[in-house]
Order: sequence, then C-alpha cells, then structure tokens
Amino acid sequence: MDKFRIFGGRPLEGRVAISGAKNAALPAMTAALLTDQRVILNNLPRVRDISTLRSLLEDLGVDSSVTHEAHGNRIEIEARQLLNPVAPYELVKQMRASVLVLGPLVARFGHARVSLPGGCAIGVRPINLHLKGLAKLGATINFEHGYINARANGLRGTDFYFDTISVTGTENLMMAATLAEGVTVLENAAREPEVQDLANLLNKMGADIEGAGTEKIRIRGVRRLHGVEHSIIPDRIEAGTFLTAAAITGGELVVDRCDPAHLTAVVAKLGEVGVQVRREGGPGSNGTQALTVKAGSKLQAGEVTTQEYPGFPTDMQAQYMALMTQAEGSSVITETIFENRFLHALELARMGADITVNGRRAVVLGRTPLSGAKIQASDLRASASLVLAGLAAEGETLIDRVYHIDRGYERIEEKLTQVGARISRISESD
Ligand code: EPU
Repeated sequence: MDKFRIFGGRPLEGRVAISGAKNAALPAMTAALLTDQRVILNNLPRVRDISTLRSLLEDLGVDSSVTHEAHGNRIEIEARQLLNPVAPYELVKQMRASVLVLGPLVARFGHARVSLPGGCAIGVRPINLHLKGLAKLGATINFEHGYINARANGLRGTDFYFDTISVTGTENLMMAATLAEGVTVLENAAREPEVQDLANLLNKMGADIEGAGTEKIRIRGVRRLHGVEHSIIPDRIEAGTFLTAAAITGGELVVDRCDPAHLTAVVAKLGEVGVQVRREGGPGSNGTQALTVKAGSKLQAGEVTTQEYPGFPTDMQAQYMALMTQAEGSSVITETIFENRFLHALELARMGADITVNGRRAVVLGRTPLSGAKIQASDLRASASLVLAGLAAEGETLIDRVYHIDRGYERIEEKLTQVGARISRISESD
C-alpha cells in the first residue's frame, strides 16, 4: 500500500489546474448505458474510481476506449449490447457509485442485478430511496444473496418525493425516467452541480428534462436516446481542497480551471475566517475561471454546518477542520449529511490538534501547532484533510492507506509539488 511522506511548513505558491469532477464523470459514464450509440466524455479526471467504473462497464459487456488529452482523459463508450447485467459485490464494495448502473440498466434492458453496497466508513448510506423510486417507476425489486434484482417491462412516469435529499438517488431516477413512458416529477431532488451536468448531458442525448438544479425535476420520457460528446464540469471539491491547502500553509495560489459559481459556500466560509479568495480575469473559452487565494496573517475561528448544495459541502468538512486547527479560538463544525464523518479528527489529534467530537458536532480549539506523525487515511476526504495537516505541520508526516485519496484526487502529490510542497509517494515496491 502506498504512503505519502510530507515535510510541512512551506507556503504553497503558484498555479494549479483543477481536473474534471469525479462525481459528475461517474453518472455521465453510466448514462452511456442508455443508448446504443457512442457517448464521448472529455475532461475526465485520472482517478481510480473512474477506472473502477470502466471495469464494471467492461464486465457488463460495454466497449470503451480512453485517450490521454492535455486536460484530462477522453473516453468513448458504446453500449451496443449487454452481456451480463450484473454489478458484482467486489466492485460495488470498492465504490458505492457503482449503484448508478441500476437506473440505466433497468430502463434500457429491463433487468439489473446489483450487489447491495453494505456499510461505509462515513455512515450507513442506504440506497432505499433509489429502490423505492424505481419501484414507483414500475420496476419489481427483489433481494437475494446480498443482491438487488430489478426487473421491468417498460417503466412508467410517476411522481416521486425524496424523503431525504440524495445526489446519486436523484441521478439514478432521472436517468431511468428518461426512457419511461410519460412524465416523471422528482420532488425534493438534489440540486448539486453534478446533477445539473448529468441533466445537460442527457438533454444533449435527446432527453427532455426541466428543472435540474432546483428541487423539482420534470422528465418527459422519450423512446430512445442518441450519442453525444460532452465535457465534464470542473471538480468543485478538488478546487476547495486546494483553496484550503493554500490557506493552511499561509500561501498564495491561483486555482485555475474551476467554476467559482459552484464554490460560493466554500469561498464565503473561507472569507469568514480570514482567507481572501477572488476571481482572476474573466471566464476562459471553456467556461472555467481562475480563483486567487491568499491567507490572511491570522486565521479566526469559524462555524460551519454541512448541507446539501448550495450549502457547505460535506465533502469539504474534513479539510475545513484541518484548517480550523490553525485558527485562533473555538470553531464549531456540524455534520448533518453523514453520521460518522469525523474519523479524521482522531488522526488530526495525533498531530496535536485539540478536537472534541460529540455526535454530529465537533469543536476545534485553536490555534495548536501541528507536528508531523504517522497517520492513517480512512476515506477520500479524510485523507485530503490529513495531507493539508501534514503540509502545515512541523517535521515529517507519513500517511498510510493513500489509496483512498487516489480514488478521487488526480495526482495530488504532483500538483502539490508543482506549487512548492514537499510531498512524495512511497510505493510498496520502493
Ligand atoms: N440516503 C438515504 N437513502 C438513500 C440515499 C441516501 O437515507 O436511498 C441518505 C444517506 O445515508 C446520507 C444522505 O442521504 O445520509 C445523503 O446521501 P446521498 O445519497 O446524497 O450521497 P451519495 O449520493 O451516496 C454523493 C457523493 C458523495 C457526497 C454525497 C453528499 C457521488 C458519487 N458521491 O454520495 O461524495 O459526499 O453525495 O454530497 O456523487 C466523495 O466524493 O468523497 C463522496 C463521498
């Protein structure tokens, strides 16, 4: 298992380019199952979750090819036929987003067999709403041997209300509804930019979707969808992570190729604690823009509650916590999306942070100097928070289990090295 070795204490300086959004690319790839024509996706991040999903598509019998472009990968997917409608346990347990094949498979082929994902480091994360929605669209759902069997002889449009807002739940049902007969209305839908990007892609494929990005999405089913070429939106969480990395090291960074409109809550919360973020220039030809971040001389304590978009993202909570260890005073962080997403607090404490966790609330008392230590990554965003802490710490930090970070950050150690960090990967073979 690879490790990161970090020597902290250097302010980050320079320019870093943001990759395509993992959480937009994953549903976009499964949307390709909805048509027998070629779907081309550009600006795909080079991260492990994308390779895992590609393996799953291959298992299903779907052809794909990847080429390396100047910015991200380009994938061509052609789902002419389905050999085997199964998402096996081995892949689903590695990546819960595998469940995104469920809606498209049932809608187009009338059958899917998908392993139940099981537990996860950050919470229970059930998929009951994906299943309830599919059943409402007319699918028959059975469980056997840890698998969900979903069958349908044509889906029918329906009204569905999400008891809890779910990102992949909204995406799964939106994809399924594109090929259902009649109109589907999804209420209390997720408003994340990744949901909007998927709706844009589906509409370009011939779907009829209105309201994505609001809590009510209306989908008028069509008989078939066609091929398309689409570019994935920038990764707002990677951008937020680099903004926070600059802040925690007292540096000044240009975070390029991002979409500031998707970062409003993160930028506002950074501003409240004394980190200035401003737009640099106008949008580029591809619609992306650069943000400049500059840490103030002193960070102040802050208060954050994670919320669904457009609120402060749960995927930035761990990184914010690392930053607050360097702020003066008592910061309060409330996690409302996942019930067990504070595992990084224990590792940060091993580096000298003063954090008290009580249920869904964490209080960080700062400022405490951090000192390098041997620590362990527990999930993707927790790993990012530990990298940030390592960059701010005095001495050497060794982070174990960095495969978690490889799931969703493209070459993070290379990008950080380019802006002045001392971080290297120690591979098993070294
Ligand atoms: N929930 C249910 N029932 C469901 C679905 C969700 O109770 O059927 C609950 C969950 O347990 C959770 C809440 O609803 O408490 C929100 O979960 P959601 O379904 O929105 O999460 P997700 O779709 O599984 C996506 C991202 C996550 C991100 C969350 C929240 C992808 C592939 N994953 O997960 O990203 O944290 O939305 O924004 O889009 C990450 O990238 O590190 C990551 C974990």
